[in-house]
Amino acid sequence: MKIAFFSTKSYDRESFLKHASDFGHEFSFLEPQLNRQTVALAEGHQAICTFVNDPLEANTLKKLSEMGIGLIALRCAGYNQVDLETAKSLGIRVVRVPAYSPEAVAEHAFALILTLSRKTHKAYNRVRENNFSLEGLTGVNIFGKTIGVIGTGAIGRAFCRIALGFGCKVLAYDVVESEEMKQLGVNYISLQEVLSKSHIISLHCPLTPETKHIINRETLAHMQDGIALINTSRGALIDTKAVIKALKTKKLGYLGIDVYEQEEHIFFKNLSEEILEDEQISRLMTFPNVLITGHQAFLTREALDQIAGTTLRNISEYEQGKALTNEIKWK
Ligand code: NAI
Repeated sequence: MKIAFFSTKSYDRESFLKHASDFGHEFSFLEPQLNRQTVALAEGHQAICTFVNDPLEANTLKKLSEMGIGLIALRCAGYNQVDLETAKSLGIRVVRVPAYSPEAVAEHAFALILTLSRKTHKAYNRVRENNFSLEGLTGVNIFGKTIGVIGTGAIGRAFCRIALGFGCKVLAYDVVESEEMKQLGVNYISLQEVLSKSHIISLHCPLTPETKHIINRETLAHMQDGIALINTSRGALIDTKAVIKALKTKKLGYLGIDVYEQEEHIFFKNLSEEILEDEQISRLMTFPNVLITGHQAFLTREALDQIAGTTLRNISEYEQGKALTNEIKWK
């Protein structure tokens, strides 16, 4: 099949080309993000492959349908960026990669925790300037802390295993509880209890109408003072304005985010020569206890390998008229 890849980076090209000979598809690697202006680039292909910040809204989907595109292969797990209702009404099928190295994301969440708690980001810069002073570098132990996990799917479970290994008490909230996690010692309680009893909270639920701004002014008020909040899931789980306020009042002691509410205008681009117009992310970057990474939690060799393999299998299933193992269905 002829597949148009949008938002292609060098690491996408490398990982997909590595698997190319096993599937026999034809690839067009396009750098632009998919949007109303760039959708025309999909002409002449039978499927498109997109990533987390390619908005698949009604107008774009209609254009794709007119071009005869019947399949959208998301090379990611989350699908909040897709208007599934419109896709279904147009007969466009949507597949995704439901799990690719959940450990990659869970380990990154822990990297954010460890960096913030031991200030290694500051130490790195200091030592490079021959400043070996330890003033201001006092950290906190992770051992013995209570970690709250919101969402114990594939990534949340991998995160719980790491937290238990560190000797933490792990509390969790999920609409579906995991027996495996319970046996390992994870304690499921209500969302409000997780928020009020934890020293560190890590978000691992998907972005849905129910979870949008799950961290807001009211839920922040339930938390202990000086709490650490980690978000490697989706930016809009957090009400950024409320979080900025909580950082100012020191309710939030640390914030580690790999995702940001308005990230589609910023992330995955080199904007180092430009003036950043986004006031909220600019404000977040002024806090010494905030660590931001640009949606890189998934970015390991192992995860890229799995993403490419699963995406190409998804496309082959469609080409061969088979049942689509990883289809997202509009309910
Ligand atoms: P998953 O589908 O395996 O798990 C999601 C869990 O959240 C499930 O257990 C589900 O029951 C739970 N959940 C759903 N609604 C909930 C609610 N209202 N309250 C509490 N829990 C709820 O998904 P997985 O693979 O663990 O991924 C989680 C999220 O991580 C994805 O939706 C995606 O947004 C994000 N992600 C981020 C990446 C990154 O690079 N930063 C990479 C991959 C995923």
